[in-house]
Amino acid sequence: MASVTSLSDSVQQQLASALSATLPEAAGADPLLRRSDRADFQANGILALAKKAKTNPRELAAQVVGNIVTGDVIKDVEVSGPGFLNVTLSDRAITENLAARYADGERLGVPLKENAGVTIIDYAQPNVAKEMHVGHLRSAVIGDALRGMLDFTGEKTIGRHHIGDWGTQFGMLIQYLFENPGELAPAADVDGEQAMSNLNRVYKASRAVFDSDEEFKERARKRVVALQSGDKETLELWQQFVDESKVYFYSVFEKLDMQIRDEEIVGESAYNDMMAETARLLEESGVAVRSEGALVVFFDEIRGKDDQPVPLIVQKADGGFGYAASDLSAIRNRVFDLHATTLLYVVDVRQSLHFKMVFETARRAGWLSDDVTAHNMGYGTVLGADGKPFKTREGETVRLEDLLDEAVERATAVVREKAEKVGLSEAEIVENGRYVGIGAVKYADLSTSPNRDYKFDLDQMVSLNGDTSVYLQYAYARIRSIFGKAGDRTPLAHPELELAPAERALALHLDAFGETVFEAAAEYAPHKVAAYLYQLASLYTTFYDQCPVVKPAPAQEVAENRLFLCDVTARTLHQGMALLGIRTPERL
Ligand code: ARG
Repeated sequence: MASVTSLSDSVQQQLASALSATLPEAAGADPLLRRSDRADFQANGILALAKKAKTNPRELAAQVVGNIVTGDVIKDVEVSGPGFLNVTLSDRAITENLAARYADGERLGVPLKENAGVTIIDYAQPNVAKEMHVGHLRSAVIGDALRGMLDFTGEKTIGRHHIGDWGTQFGMLIQYLFENPGELAPAADVDGEQAMSNLNRVYKASRAVFDSDEEFKERARKRVVALQSGDKETLELWQQFVDESKVYFYSVFEKLDMQIRDEEIVGESAYNDMMAETARLLEESGVAVRSEGALVVFFDEIRGKDDQPVPLIVQKADGGFGYAASDLSAIRNRVFDLHATTLLYVVDVRQSLHFKMVFETARRAGWLSDDVTAHNMGYGTVLGADGKPFKTREGETVRLEDLLDEAVERATAVVREKAEKVGLSEAEIVENGRYVGIGAVKYADLSTSPNRDYKFDLDQMVSLNGDTSVYLQYAYARIRSIFGKAGDRTPLAHPELELAPAERALALHLDAFGETVFEAAAEYAPHKVAAYLYQLASLYTTFYDQCPVVKPAPAQEVAENRLFLCDVTARTLHQGMALLGIRTPERL
């Protein structure tokens, strides 16, 4: 693996050293380099530095220019406006740099982070015995993309699917199953759909008895105690619910074209044995206090309606532990056993108060610090066309599976329309329909900043025009098809060739792939990768319109160099989409 220094980094370094040679007190200052339409790059940093040093910015800029060695990389640099620097690169440097990326296979020359840490990503956390709905979509999609991006930078990521597999509701379910054995078919015998319909049936039936029979209610309550104290028979029945649910979860994740690892499904129940100790540690250190029998943590700044402090409840007055205790125990496990340096929670913004309190508690206890930090990547709501939270026509929550099925159906129709021209077989149409439909859903989600709400609009999502995944997938497939038409001409970089404006713009954008992913990963901002890819496809379209690759046939070297640009573009699109969890079919 050979990492490649990006052109903007090389220019940045050269400008910075010319700057400190001119003005020693500017050592380490940022020349503020940006891509520019006037030249290749523009540096705007001199203005502020001149102001600080009380000198004329244009004069300072001219002196800096005098200290820049033009040649290999920088072809030309000139002062413009009040004291900007316009930098033009040599064509050779641009092509050679890209050729080095091309030689590096999938990584495209992007270096790995030097001091990589361990990030635990808590995402895709459905609840046992419950159907997954549209709310579970964002956590899964955003979490998976962030993971892909962080992994690519060299960060070590560990997934945690903190599934809801614990709590009082299991008393009712288990007691019902205990009294009606055989109501739940063994997990090994069912598929995802059957599993969910069995779970739904048992849930409804047990709910009905629970609501109408006081004695059953009492038995269910006792069952909770048995579960929490680890009664063997109770645990066995509980396990049946978990196993049956997992069959269902896996079928949905497979639909989402997402890999979930069994060892990373570590739900609320997994921390059961730690909870008492967590409570003890918090009480002994004075972080938590007893209040009306419960063990709670208070926060000055968090207050409810009548200005009463709202506490975090670590242990209820009846001795039971809840959601907060499992999250606090999970933090101890993640920090001290898994040696995390960052904890990232991809959870609905509606739980942000919970996490604020949990994180603050963990900080007071010394489990989190300046070196080990926690963030809740709280995401916004998926809205329907009417701008209200997405519901079915009947006003019910939308089942995630139904929504995915519909997306695939729509996408398959879009694919089918063009299939004959491309010569796709029925099997390819079906496969592409899946990749396009699921890609559309993921991309619509990821191209919006995670903290914003977005409208779930399938018509827009599978549209071939505009900022959609289908548009990017078609761009990719179109590039791939060029190689079939190129005859015996193959991609080959020719650094001696002069580049046309559209070729430069494309090449410079390709060079910025790594920087974009690093920035987006550091900010937990998948939409920045999406925006980058969309712009890449647009720049490619301009290039393709202005710089013929196959017809009319250019000179041999020009054709080879353009095919090389096509290939780097295709690989970058493919890799960028893969980071977001989206496939790029070869033929579409
Ligand atoms: N299962 C929860 C829900 O569906 C989300 C869990 C989030 N993760 C966590 N560590 N609390 O709302």
